[in-house]
Amino acid sequence: MCQFHALLGPRVRLCRFVINIRQIRQKMAKSKFEYVKGFELGDKCLPGCWIVVRLDGKCFHKFADTHEFVKPNDERALKLMNHAASVVMKEFRDICLAFGQSDEYSFVWKKDTNMYNRRSSKLVSTVNSLFTSAFVFYWRQYFEAVQLKYPPAFDARAVLYPTNETLRDYLSWRQADLHINNLYNTAFWALVLKKGLTTTQAELRLRGTVAADKNELLFSEFGVNYNDEPAVFRKGTALLRKAAGDGYGPRQVVVPFHADLIGDSFWARHSEVLALGAPGPCDAGDLARLAET
Ligand code: GTP
Ligand code: MG
Repeated sequence: MCQFHALLGPRVRLCRFVINIRQIRQKMAKSKFEYVKGFELGDKCLPGCWIVVRLDGKCFHKFADTHEFVKPNDERALKLMNHAASVVMKEFRDICLAFGQSDEYSFVWKKDTNMYNRRSSKLVSTVNSLFTSAFVFYWRQYFEAVQLKYPPAFDARAVLYPTNETLRDYLSWRQADLHINNLYNTAFWALVLKKGLTTTQAELRLRGTVAADKNELLFSEFGVNYNDEPAVFRKGTALLRKAAGDGYGPRQVVVPFHADLIGDSFWARHSEVLALGAPGPCDAGDLARLAET
């Protein structure tokens, strides 16, 4: 026994010595190097404001071409974007609404959220990385045999909106942007794909036209009533948190809506969003759209 201790003694002493040195180094590092923390800028979002994190696909004109997206709207791509966004909403309960169109998604954080102490960089980076990884993770569910040829990227920013009115105007702006682009693209690709014009000829044909001209062109030359185009193409997708009752009691679901966000009726029907209330109930139509996603 004594011999055993005698053998272990120096080792134990050596271990203690090493641990002591480490502790001293750690203390020194704290005292000597900790000052660099002061270089980090505070980026806490102002209190009481809605926080919108908007993501946008990087060079998606190239990504869409490489992966042969259907023109002008690829349902698989839109559904994948919506799925990735709902993954984000399910993870972060303080996101009360998200709106997506084309290669972009806006996530609206409740104005009273205290997530990550409202630090902008944490909110932006976590939403962006979860969205992007979900986009890649669920790619095959929507694109099946189409191989993902390279890793996609999204840029992201946070913008604060101080009132309900400015938040609504922000969402109206994104939906109006979608309307202008989609009407143009629908007419442009009809001229190219159905009438055989070159892209340059189609561009010239549409130059200087207003919305009414493009509606007329679609109707008279292609028999297309723009208002009959799928709502998801014309209005984009708003994701809302709703309460769905089932056999196991109420549960939260993330429901897609392809509705007008510019008028008042959407906000009256979903008044809980701006009022920071609990999720409202689902109706049969909501559940049907949910099942389609
Ligand atoms: P940056 O965002 O500046 O990096 O450029 P970007 O190429 O992503 O352009 P932008 O975000 O302005 O526009 C998105 C582009 O993605 C569109 O112009 C289309 O080329 C492409 N895109 C998005 N959705 C679809 C789709 O459903 N079908 C097709 N064919 N293209 C799409
Ligand atoms: Mg983009």
